[in-house]
Amino acid sequence: MYSDKVMDHFQNPRNVGEIENASGVGTVGNAKCGDIMRIYLDIDENQVIQDCKFKTFGCGAAVATSSMATEMVKGKTIQEAMQVTNKAVMEALDGLPPVKVHCSLLAEEAIHAALWDYAQTHNITIEGLEKPKNDISEGEEEEEY
Ligand code: FES
Repeated sequence: MYSDKVMDHFQNPRNVGEIENASGVGTVGNAKCGDIMRIYLDIDENQVIQDCKFKTFGCGAAVATSSMATEMVKGKTIQEAMQVTNKAVMEALDGLPPVKVHCSLLAEEAIHAALWDYAQTHNITIEGLEKPKNDISEGEEEEEY
């Protein structure tokens, strides 16, 4: 059911933890499954993401996608990090079963929420970034789980 990469990132998640005095912190949840994700970003003066960590109270697919997403945004500029969509993360993991696709949205939204937090405190606008939702299941079509 899961690819080797998903299993690897689930069993050995990268970048788990917190960043003290992070440049941006984002927390999102999905009220439907009750899972929560928090992402910490350390962004330098050139707007390059030096470090990224995550903490989750979430399912295995949420852990694996967050692990991969944090690996993918590290070393990138803010604008490049905006291209790290849940689709890109899923591709990097060789796919997820269809019922688990929504889990990958937690990581994308939490990164956006952390970027939003950074943008707010630094008074900048990040192109293409919209105010993140706290609950990603909001406004979603009813789905079968
Ligand atoms: Fe909730 Fe996967 S079931 S994030």
